[in-house]
Amino acid sequence: MIKTKRVAVAGFGNVGKGVIEVLLQGQIPELKLEKIVVKHPGKIRPFSVDPSLIVTDFSQVIRDPNIDVIVEVMGGIKDAVSLILSALRNGKDIVTANKVVISQHGNEIFSLAIKLGRTVGFRGTFVGCNALIHDLSLSARRIRRMCAILNGTCNYILSHMARSGISFEQALREAQEKGYAEANASEDIDGLDTAHKIQILLGVISNTYNIPPDIPCEGIRDITMQDIQYAKELGYAIKLLGVIERENGSVTVFVRPTLVPHGTMLASIEDANNAIELENDLGVVSGLIAPGAGTYPTTVAIINDLLDIARGATLMMPTLNTPIVLNDIGNIRGRYYLRLTVKDQPRVLAQITRILGDHDISLASVIQKESAPAEAVPVVMTTHEVKERELRAALEKVDQLEVVKAKTKIIPILEGRGQQPAFIN
Ligand SMILES: NC(=O)c1ccc[n+]([C@@H]2O[C@H](COP(=O)([O-])OP(=O)(O)OC[C@H]3O[C@@H](n4cnc5c(N)ncnc54)[C@H](OP(=O)(O)O)[C@@H]3O)[C@@H](O)[C@H]2O)c1
Repeated sequence: MIKTKRVAVAGFGNVGKGVIEVLLQGQIPELKLEKIVVKHPGKIRPFSVDPSLIVTDFSQVIRDPNIDVIVEVMGGIKDAVSLILSALRNGKDIVTANKVVISQHGNEIFSLAIKLGRTVGFRGTFVGCNALIHDLSLSARRIRRMCAILNGTCNYILSHMARSGISFEQALREAQEKGYAEANASEDIDGLDTAHKIQILLGVISNTYNIPPDIPCEGIRDITMQDIQYAKELGYAIKLLGVIERENGSVTVFVRPTLVPHGTMLASIEDANNAIELENDLGVVSGLIAPGAGTYPTTVAIINDLLDIARGATLMMPTLNTPIVLNDIGNIRGRYYLRLTVKDQPRVLAQITRILGDHDISLASVIQKESAPAEAVPVVMTTHEVKERELRAALEKVDQLEVVKAKTKIIPILEGRGQQPAFIN
């Protein structure tokens, strides 16, 4: 016999309206909408709802014995955390799409839920890859490596710069005009949104809620049209990647712009799409391309969590409190793209390559275009495999040369698939 779960949805914005619409259609017998929490009851909504469903104080649904599950889609941090913790203490299960809350307060939330025997669904915090992660996290095999494009705004900007030859600033403006990027786009373009998702995914695939509060994170602000053109010439696209790699007990995690070889699934992702490539411990690689945000993609993720709760299915909630020790990214061995800004004069390259040689760094390619007489010109190099710490030590000296006019840009190169590691520790 189907036992219906009575649901309150806290939030009637971009995400909430989709969840409310689906629940009001009444086609899912396991789920019944009981209440909707909003901040501004007078606001015009995209469709009308029975006014008796609406409340403005979330403590009303927390205390309501007729509610089994609360969907938190209000956003923000303080109220959302308070709602989630109080609701768990009042015997409710939770479904949330709040990336910031789960990445920064997951420890508190999951440990309380486990103590109280309650469930927290959070597929909506990583919409673009939730289906694949859900299937693989329940499989018997360990995920060894994950490389993912998790921010639609950054991917729109980078793929649009590559396609149309426009500047970063112009591509960002277009992303904002199309409604992809927030007016304050820092969460997207500085990599923070991707970092939140990577932190959550690290917890999921490691089955721990004791995730590091910060991970190495670099956004796409400094990526120039020249970087994109040089990368293309070298056979790569530039993508903002979130990477998790587990090797011999150590975990390497970062969010960085990365050169991804043309002809691979990740390099082919255009516009605001998200994509994920996962490799298990047998070297089997699986991938998924999917929208990473938006009303209906997020609604589907939330409804799947609600259905799992209603059916008593296993949710991919981390259950252990094991701390994760991150590998210092200085220990990464890999290949790198370097963009130097140098004076256009003789013997510049000789000075730079001598320092690199002293650090045992060998170059795979050097590109220096003919240039009009100018104060500074770009020189692009790619390295053979090198330890990142050694590379940074060498570049610190290079950047002090009188002929070098700006800090050298370092972008890692993604290599390998299947049995090959992407970044070798
Ligand atoms: N948008 C996406 O595509 C997407 C995708 C994945 C995850 N998410 C996450 O989903 C969450 C919601 O995003 P959204 O885009 O739907 O936000 P939104 O459009 O700003 O909607 C927020 C809703 O929550 C209500 N609200 C806010 N604070 C409240 C409070 N203290 N008490 C009662 N109601 C409150 C607002 O009420 P009023 O309408 O009355 O002002 C509004 O209906 C965020 O955590 C976001 O990161 C969003």
